[in-house]
Amino acid sequence: MTLETVSLGGTGLEVSRLAMGTWRFGRRLIDGEERYDSDDGIVETNEERAADLLDAYAERGGNFIDTADKYGDGKSEEWIGNWLADRDREDFIIATKIHRPRRPGDPNGEGLNRKHLRRQIDISLDRLGTDYVDLLYCHRWDDRTPAEEFMRTLDGLVSEGKVNYLGISSGSPDEWKIVKANEIARRRGYEPFTVTQPRYNLVDREIEANYMDMCRDYGLGIVPWSPLAWGFLTGKYSRDRDFPDDSTAAADARFKSHYLTEENFDVLEVTTAIAEEVGAKVAHVALAWQLHHPDVTAPIVGASTVEQLEENLDADDVSLTDDQFARLDEAKTASLV
Ligand SMILES: NC(=O)c1ccc[n+]([C@@H]2O[C@H](COP(=O)([O-])OP(=O)(O)OC[C@H]3O[C@@H](n4cnc5c(N)ncnc54)[C@H](OP(=O)(O)O)[C@@H]3O)[C@@H](O)[C@H]2O)c1
Repeated sequence: MTLETVSLGGTGLEVSRLAMGTWRFGRRLIDGEERYDSDDGIVETNEERAADLLDAYAERGGNFIDTADKYGDGKSEEWIGNWLADRDREDFIIATKIHRPRRPGDPNGEGLNRKHLRRQIDISLDRLGTDYVDLLYCHRWDDRTPAEEFMRTLDGLVSEGKVNYLGISSGSPDEWKIVKANEIARRRGYEPFTVTQPRYNLVDREIEANYMDMCRDYGLGIVPWSPLAWGFLTGKYSRDRDFPDDSTAAADARFKSHYLTEENFDVLEVTTAIAEEVGAKVAHVALAWQLHHPDVTAPIVGASTVEQLEENLDADDVSLTDDQFARLDEAKTASLV
């Protein structure tokens, strides 16, 4: 089925209910670490696979593509640009991000200072082969740069037509900082943040405390990253730690320490049981739970293969009962008691 669309936060823009993640495009792992100082190791998603994934997403009517200046050391933006060159750029909502270190050894080569923001947006536009991005996220908060400085700089990028909307990708406990930035924008007449991008899934629930209240109160959209917890919520990992060979996440030390915990496996058991009850995949249930949440705008799904992507894009068709939603809601908190 064609993907439905939804309004992006407080904007007039319509985006697909599921966004397309491109984090692994060009991402090179050497001995389990992301590195670009040699051609060794593995590239998680090469350009041919990236184009296949984008084709599959577009064929389902998907329009919302998420990238960042640092993904794959720039390859993600570059390959999206190559793919877009054969299409009508106006059919797509392109979101990118700036903040992460891009110039090793240069103290001004990261963060949200004016020099870095202005240089990086031009590099991103050049790689993407477009005059503007629909949405620019600050990839994280920057405590070194005054909020007044970056809100004014970002407002300038909007005035110049390089960016249409602004977002911030950070989670709890940055709520007060986001509110401060938007209050500065309101007082000065600058463009505010209208979208947030925090991590959110059945086992990473921190934003439920205050962050979601902030978003609801200020009308900010929530575009969650890692909705499947890097693949943990697809049911392919088991407590006995017998990892499938085709899983790149299993080779990543951060994945093992953060996700492969006993309490997370308790949550996975509940999710798997519900998937069996409704005759759906575990990933469908994990995504359907988010899609049902009134504060969630459009989760960003990742996929290593076209088959995974097509499976994930079917999540919108899965219906769960109130009782099943309640059991999923309670699964994490119950596992902590
Ligand atoms: N703002 C930020 O700081 C931030 C951080 C992270 C991500 N993001 C954005 O969010 C996007 C999604 O993040 P993510 O990749 O972590 O998302 P995710 O949906 O939680 O995980 C995606 C991974 O799970 C596995 N997977 C997905 N669907 C599957 C299926 N149906 N069956 C089996 N395995 C499946 C695949 O990995 P394997 O095949 O390797 O197991 C895939 O690469 C990124 O691409 C990026 O655009 C943003």
